[in-house]
Amino acid sequence: MTPIAGEQIRSLVQPGRVHRRVYTDEEIFDLELERIFGSAWIYVGHESQIKLPGDFLATRIGRKPLLLVRDSDGNIQLLHNQCAHRGSMVVASDCGHTSEFRCCYHGWTYHLDGRLKAAPLLHGYPSHFDPKNSDTAMRRVPRVASYRGFVFGSHAKDGPSLEDFLGYMTTSFDDLIDRAPDGDLEVAGGVFKHTYRGNWKLYLENLCDAAHPLFVHQSSIDAAQQQSDDTYSDGSGEIAIRQMRQNGASYSFWEANVGIWTYPNGHSFLGDYHDDAKLVAALNDPVFREYHAAMEAKKGKQQAKKILDTRRWNSNVYPNLSFMSQFQQLRVVHPLTVNQTVVHAYTFRLGGAPTRMFENAISFANIVNGTGSLVLTDDLEIYNRIDLGLLSAGSEWLEIGRGYEGDQPDEHGGWRGKNSTSEIYIRNMFDTWLNYMAVEKPINGGRSSVSSHAAESRP
Ligand code: FES
Ligand SMILES: [Fe+2]
Repeated sequence: MTPIAGEQIRSLVQPGRVHRRVYTDEEIFDLELERIFGSAWIYVGHESQIKLPGDFLATRIGRKPLLLVRDSDGNIQLLHNQCAHRGSMVVASDCGHTSEFRCCYHGWTYHLDGRLKAAPLLHGYPSHFDPKNSDTAMRRVPRVASYRGFVFGSHAKDGPSLEDFLGYMTTSFDDLIDRAPDGDLEVAGGVFKHTYRGNWKLYLENLCDAAHPLFVHQSSIDAAQQQSDDTYSDGSGEIAIRQMRQNGASYSFWEANVGIWTYPNGHSFLGDYHDDAKLVAALNDPVFREYHAAMEAKKGKQQAKKILDTRRWNSNVYPNLSFMSQFQQLRVVHPLTVNQTVVHAYTFRLGGAPTRMFENAISFANIVNGTGSLVLTDDLEIYNRIDLGLLSAGSEWLEIGRGYEGDQPDEHGGWRGKNSTSEIYIRNMFDTWLNYMAVEKPINGGRSSVSSHAAESRP
């Protein structure tokens, strides 16, 4: 088959709209795995998940199963989870602690850094077989780096550093980490995994979509609005109710009080809530008051205020990560097929924060990320309906133009929408998508020459 040409790919993204093929075409999906997931920095785990030498976490880049490991020298290794003998996946559990990896098929064992340690019946191999050769090791991913504990891997041997790739988005990680009074975070409380029938790109496109909750989440909004504030005298249901009510905020609230910012390499965040009374993390909540006191005690009044005055909601790190600092949630998107995606959702515990803060974070996880959630299941239904809708012979072009004429440059080298209901963050992701996809040799990020911004008119 002739490979799809750069020009053909370029024609799929136009100012303010994209062709439906980007969500449905298997050839394009394969190319995404090769050119985006095979090149960009991809989030693979948090250092707190591999604290001690011998700790490991099963992770992946695209469809490739990997192991994130703390080796015996304390270094972080990112290994392909494949035995060099006959190809079996070596580790089948999600995480654990071990002194070596042993393949279950014929018993080859590996050091924590991937080197072959021993192979049974070694005398039977041909004389040129060398157990010290890198061909007999579990292969390493060429680059692994972390930003303040958040670990990324890249299949590209060369390219921008992780910090250059993240750019101004490092401030979103800072926002999450600095909220810990003791300055440290740990993944806690397990993981939610949910698979949906739909393209992987739909997930990040939804997480900064301020125009959808009023419709998609209407049933839980209605239910929450009928509850009085003291329904749960022990406080256990307050977070859930507040979140569901917040989803019912009017367009005028979103447009007047919330902003959307986008940055090179496809990243974006929704934030800058100005109205504390409407925040889920309402400042008059007794748990948050206790937390604020802990922050002030550890960081001083001024610094605590500066940290807590940052009010970001979801931060999207293209192509596969979204996190939110106010309730310490993190979601990782893994594409499986062109219309099948799995998402892993984690919660962080803030070092030095009151226990109830973590319980609130878990309540929040249950309401927005749990597989029985009244909120998440609405969104999964939408991804499925998009997948079904695109099977029809309806419109070939999909609109991503809302707010198109209000896009404006941002002082930190990005662009922002005039208000939070702008689809600028989707246009930004597709600009980056083109940068990876429409060249024979992918580059990491920057704005595309086929920008979907308002300066250019649609043909
Ligand atoms: S496939 Fe792993 S030891 Fe044979
Ligand atoms: Fe939603």
